[in-house]
Amino acid sequence: MAIANARHSFFLVAMALTAFAETTWSQPSEPRGAHDREFREAAALEPDLTRGARLYDTCAACHGADGRGTEDGEIPAIAGQHGSVLLNQIIGFRHELRWNQRMRHFTDRHHLADAQDLTDVAAYVASLSRFPATAKGIGDGENLRAGASVYFQHCERCHGPLGQGNLLMSRPRLAGQHYAYLLRQMQETAAAGRPGMDRRHVELMKLLTPEQMRGVADYLSRVSPDLTSTRNR
Ligand code: HEC
Ligand code: HEC
Repeated sequence: MAIANARHSFFLVAMALTAFAETTWSQPSEPRGAHDREFREAAALEPDLTRGARLYDTCAACHGADGRGTEDGEIPAIAGQHGSVLLNQIIGFRHELRWNQRMRHFTDRHHLADAQDLTDVAAYVASLSRFPATAKGIGDGENLRAGASVYFQHCERCHGPLGQGNLLMSRPRLAGQHYAYLLRQMQETAAAGRPGMDRRHVELMKLLTPEQMRGVADYLSRVSPDLTSTRNR
């Protein structure tokens, strides 16, 4: 069942390629062009989940066999993330649109040789189920109300009412991500530490107060809907 879903999702991604390239990014650049070419090539391929599972062995050392990452937020949860988002991020690390030594190393051509490898591993990760929030993966609850309010005012229109993201637009599922990871990504984005991020997204993060950031991260870390029914929206 989950496997059939992952395949279905991937074909939808291929259909949405042009929309992705034209709407997601405001300023094309050299790394962006190389990224988009590789994204298009990978998303057009049919994923092989058996190969994907084999390739995932290296990833499991850090992200865990079930794709949970770590509650301290050092390693993100990736299980059940949209295939388009996984591809976008993995390829981003390959082209310096996201900076992280470890991810750069494990997504290089030595580990993921070509577009087929990228598709296979992304589809496998997308097919893993997300899990309910755990007590150590959430915030302290102090800014929850403010966080939910910020979320519905400024984030819901893209990341969805349940934090489920959007497969066709490559918008990440944020629901059920570890609190500390969400907070760190927002802070790094505001500090211009994610060069692949749309400029408007960076500006939005800069507007948030530290309390609002903690609140949004806390809110999102607590919701973890089963996405099987929303994955294709
Ligand atoms: C040595 C540890 C390590 C290994 C091995 C590893 N990762 Fe990661 N991964 C990380 C860390 C740390 C981050 C967070 C990077 C950051 O903070 O920007 C990350 C981030 C990611 C993200 C971005 C998630 C998000 O929502 O922002 C994806 C996708 C990902 N890894 C997939 C993979 C895949 C697929 C593999 C195997 C090919 C892999 N990782 C192997 C440590 C690792
Ligand atoms: C216009 C649409 C849009 C809006 C509005 C928006 N986002 Fe995003 N967000 C995106 C997209 C697209 C990405 C993926 C960017 C990338 O790395 O390529 C993203 C990425 C993120 C990430 C990084 C996720 C990860 O796993 O790497 C976080 C955290 C995030 N957004 C939080 C928020 C919050 C909080 C708000 C509201 C204050 C918000 N976003 C508003 C579209 C949006």
